[in-house]
Amino acid sequence: CGIVGYIGHREAYPIVLEGLKRLEYRGYDSAGIALYDGKNINVSKTKGKVADLQKRLESEMSTAGNVGIGHTRWATHGVPNDVNSHPHYSNSGDLVIIHNGIIENYASIKTELTNRGYTFKSDTDTEVLINLIEDIKIKEKVKLGKAVQIALNQVVGAYAIAVMDKNKPDEIVIARLGSPLAVGVGENEYFIASDASPFIEYTKQAIYLEDEEMAVIRIKKGIKIRKIKDDSLVAPYVQELQLSLEQIEKGGYEHFMLKEIHEQPEAIRDTYRGRLLANEGIIRMAGIDDNIEKFTQADKITIVACGTSWHAGLVAEYIFEDLARIPVEVEYASEFRYRNPVITNKDVVIAISQSGETADTLAAIKLAKQNGAFVFGVCNVVGSSIARETHAGAYTHAGPEIGVASTKAFTTQITVLTLIALKLAKVKGNMSNSDFHHHLQELELIPEKIEKALKADAHIQIVAKQYKDAKNSLYLGRGYNFPVALEGALKLKEISYIHAEGYPAAEMKHGPIALIDEQMPVYVIAVNNPHYGKVVSNIEEIKSRSGKIIGIVTEGDEEVKELADHVIEVPNTLESLTPLLTTIPLQLLSYHIAVMLDRNVDQPRNLAKSVTVE
Ligand code: G6P
Repeated sequence: CGIVGYIGHREAYPIVLEGLKRLEYRGYDSAGIALYDGKNINVSKTKGKVADLQKRLESEMSTAGNVGIGHTRWATHGVPNDVNSHPHYSNSGDLVIIHNGIIENYASIKTELTNRGYTFKSDTDTEVLINLIEDIKIKEKVKLGKAVQIALNQVVGAYAIAVMDKNKPDEIVIARLGSPLAVGVGENEYFIASDASPFIEYTKQAIYLEDEEMAVIRIKKGIKIRKIKDDSLVAPYVQELQLSLEQIEKGGYEHFMLKEIHEQPEAIRDTYRGRLLANEGIIRMAGIDDNIEKFTQADKITIVACGTSWHAGLVAEYIFEDLARIPVEVEYASEFRYRNPVITNKDVVIAISQSGETADTLAAIKLAKQNGAFVFGVCNVVGSSIARETHAGAYTHAGPEIGVASTKAFTTQITVLTLIALKLAKVKGNMSNSDFHHHLQELELIPEKIEKALKADAHIQIVAKQYKDAKNSLYLGRGYNFPVALEGALKLKEISYIHAEGYPAAEMKHGPIALIDEQMPVYVIAVNNPHYGKVVSNIEEIKSRSGKIIGIVTEGDEEVKELADHVIEVPNTLESLTPLLTTIPLQLLSYHIAVMLDRNVDQPRNLAKSVTVE
């Protein structure tokens, strides 16, 4: 979910509204805004998008006022309808709240409040929290900030909240635990948001709240940050933001996803700039160089991640084991955190996350740290929670990724992980100088080769047209390209809603082969590598069951071309680098199918870009 707020001398409504539009990638089941009009706090909210909210709000209330908060929601408790949307009032109507996250013990608090006469309009945990705050405020005769603090010490869960009180219209109270919250600092004005994008054109000065911190923000008196647990004051640390407005706009493309697919050559250059010195035969990465022994002496490396980042981890497993000869396990963060994993102080854990905010990945990191492991982060968002929670790390420098389906984050993650694996392989003496040099040179050429792969776009559109109405799709790959098959299937599922599965090509005969008939498109990654012949045999097996074959092949391929219904070519490269190329046509294919099916490409149903709840 996304949170926005404003308090100062400007009209709050346009700032909050535009801010919500920028944060819609965080969830878009419903949206709502609360504004103080000089007398009352008015709320308008609706199921659906921010654009729906705008229509409704402007027809039902005044947009005047200098204080306001807004929310765009990804539903956890309660279906996404109007009533469950945020903001929520307290029973008296004096207090209003917006909330990201989950209050786990809300049921028992709700029972207690109900027994004391409180009533609830919605099914949300959030309405329970605001009434708890109100109850404390009245019972203990304390100010809003104190009441929020006492309440938060009673709840179990994760949150980022913003609260307004109609009797104190010059103040907003915010707090965070597990869900990000940034405060933009202007001249006698403050902006509140889940990330800095809503206020970037107003101020570059930002304070990021840490977990278990809350702040009381007043127009004249400024911001006071405290620890929720022990009430101690925290000195605000104001950061200068690097983000620019153009970076978060679409730049002429119809969708963010398409823009981000096309940004990959540049993004990968940004990822390796200053790190990959191909001519000198050097890889320089401070986070690795400073901790090199942790890696070379590790018993094993465990990679934790979710979604597309998990797929990048799987690619890394191949490259780490193949080149650096370090045993690697790749785990879903959500499984790792709850299964008592065998992790000691001789382990290295690598956490991969585009947003740096994924709740399960963050929890996995904390568990690994408790067990004494050295934890290294591979994140895209600078200053994110995961970047701060890990012992060391390397940013991917892909720039903001807005499309919910991850593209450039994936290929830049693989780039960073490849750099690390190559560096370790070299330090451990597993690679000859010439082989190492060759890898560096080939890696440096990847952006140009992606540019070439992107040129297949028109041909990919033809393929997309032919298979857009399929009910199912199968993606096959072997070795380094098995994770690419998984990622290809995920992309299709996410944005076109077509059921798709990724499989190791040889495993097909242990199940999926039963699904193959003339209706089933099978996307097979069959690039030049030692398994090529084996993949060709798998293609024969599909063909003899009348499946439709779309081969992702190396330029100039002849054999698969003979067998397949279509082939899409990518340039030749080293086997370990092929995922960076084979991914590209699969991203474009999903994109075009989704556009042809009239799906909401950047904001597919039910998903969110950054999942800050477990
Ligand atoms: C969500 C997003 C995916 C992403 C995953 C992990 O499911 O929709 O695109 O891969 O979270 O996110 P992270 O930010 O940790 O990489």
